Amino acid sequence: MHRFAMLTKQTAASPGCKGPGSCRNGRRNVALRCIASLVEGKQHQQRFTQRTRPGREGLVRWNSAAKASAVKINEKTSREKILTLESMNPQVKAVEYAVRGPIVLKAGEIEKELRKGIKKPFTEVIKANIGDAHAMGQQPITFLRQVVALCTYPNLLDSPSFPEDSKKRARRILQGCGGNSLGSYSASQGVNCIREDVAAYIERRDGGVPADPDNIYLTTGASDGIATILKILVSGGGKSRTGVMIPIPQYPLYSAAISELDAVQVNYYLDEENCWALDVNELRRSLNEAKAYCNPKVLCIINPGNPTGQVQSRKCIEDVIHFAWEEQLFLLADEVYQDNIYSEECQFHSFKKVLYEMGPEYYSNVELASFHSTSKGYMGECGYRGGYMEVINLHPEIKGQLVKLLSVRLCPPVSGQAAMDIVVNPPVPGEESYAQFIKEKESVLNNLAQKAKLTEDMFNKVPGIHCNPLQGAMYAFPRIFIPSKGIEVAKAHKMAPDLFYCMKLLEETGICVVPGSGFGQREGSYHFRMTILPPVEKLKIVLEKVKDFHIQFLEEYA
Ligand SMILES: Cc1ncc(COP(=O)(O)O)c(C=O)c1O
Repeated sequence: MHRFAMLTKQTAASPGCKGPGSCRNGRRNVALRCIASLVEGKQHQQRFTQRTRPGREGLVRWNSAAKASAVKINEKTSREKILTLESMNPQVKAVEYAVRGPIVLKAGEIEKELRKGIKKPFTEVIKANIGDAHAMGQQPITFLRQVVALCTYPNLLDSPSFPEDSKKRARRILQGCGGNSLGSYSASQGVNCIREDVAAYIERRDGGVPADPDNIYLTTGASDGIATILKILVSGGGKSRTGVMIPIPQYPLYSAAISELDAVQVNYYLDEENCWALDVNELRRSLNEAKAYCNPKVLCIINPGNPTGQVQSRKCIEDVIHFAWEEQLFLLADEVYQDNIYSEECQFHSFKKVLYEMGPEYYSNVELASFHSTSKGYMGECGYRGGYMEVINLHPEIKGQLVKLLSVRLCPPVSGQAAMDIVVNPPVPGEESYAQFIKEKESVLNNLAQKAKLTEDMFNKVPGIHCNPLQGAMYAFPRIFIPSKGIEVAKAHKMAPDLFYCMKLLEETGICVVPGSGFGQREGSYHFRMTILPPVEKLKIVLEKVKDFHIQFLEEYA
């Protein structure tokens, strides 16, 4: 069993629990449910008494009915469950998602204890485990919220408090919605005019490379697009089962989706010594080895990288595309951090643009799906679940299959589609909201750039921590030295050494980060992932605390 799965099970079960049926907590839960239903019954009884004021006889009858139903509940709870850990879908059981894993469960427990007044060496838990910008205090972009508010409550279109350009956007979106309402289902592929805006955005971004709205699919966050396209791609059994090449370290959506689909995960390692660069020789090694046990046909790239924060050079992207063309691999380009570039020397190049610049042999053949989202960038609108994918060179019959699959879940949230529209169709020079929009956007991005540098510099001052430059995205993935005594103690606790380290960090400082093993790392190396989203002053405190913790950890396990 995987280390994380083991820990989750341990945290979930009470001490001394000997499995289903024999768990004291299990019996207590049944008892609690009975008490709850009796309490509910009592409340019902009170309401009933108030309304009808029955005589004593009525109450006696009610009481015996309640007792009878409690007996029935007891009988029911003693039946065996249909859905158990043994009977459940094993592919779902195999799924792991470290970003919300055992560390986060523990952080939740600690928060509860703090609320109860239990004393800790800290007063708050700082959740630097997940790329959720607004949860960390980032303010929404005014224009985006204005348009979504107008779409949600069109009476506001008469209000003088909203600028004309936001009203224009809202009217356009509403006209594309059934019954002019955000509350209607949209086409499964998404609202037409929003897909047109996405295509126009891609053309502008890629210096005029054509984009067809018909190739755009609006999605429920990028996650939905990635999972959907993988679902269509996976087939075969045994040695012909689809292999999906993913970077290590990776964003765990990929390993989770691969597990769920029972596909084969094919790892290629990013080069930590070279700023987490992607080396085509490593792709080739990984592909050739995988051919012995599966049919590798998908290559996933995350650029800028999560958790590693590297930004791929144009040359590297060209090499990857050539490799995919040569080896007949379907390319997935996860570009959700395309606006998050901080290093002066780096620039975002979309796979689509580079593919076109490589000439017709490539752009007419290489099958490519690329993804974007409202969740990252300067918007950080994770909760709207907005996203899109652009798929090119898809077989026409597969297009039909994709639309069919998407239509089963009807459509992505239309409010999320509206939010996506503003990401791709923001105010332009000359429009009323332009100045404020640019000010807000630049403020968020400059702030992130400052925090990226601060984090790199602070980590690299700590003995036993090495951090590559955070060229983009919103995370640091520093390498941590764990002394052999620390590794032994971790193993004695049946924990991965970096999980042990992160648990200790959480318990002693209240800082919640994710162990590197949740993303994958080279054997024998240890890391953690930390977001750079806390406000600057708080981030400085976090970094200071990590430094002090690390120094003390080295001393304790020297
Ligand atoms: C690389 C990467 N891809 C996809 C996603 C999913 O984002 P969304 O919220 O759009 O589903 C994330 C979220 O953190 C991510 O980091």
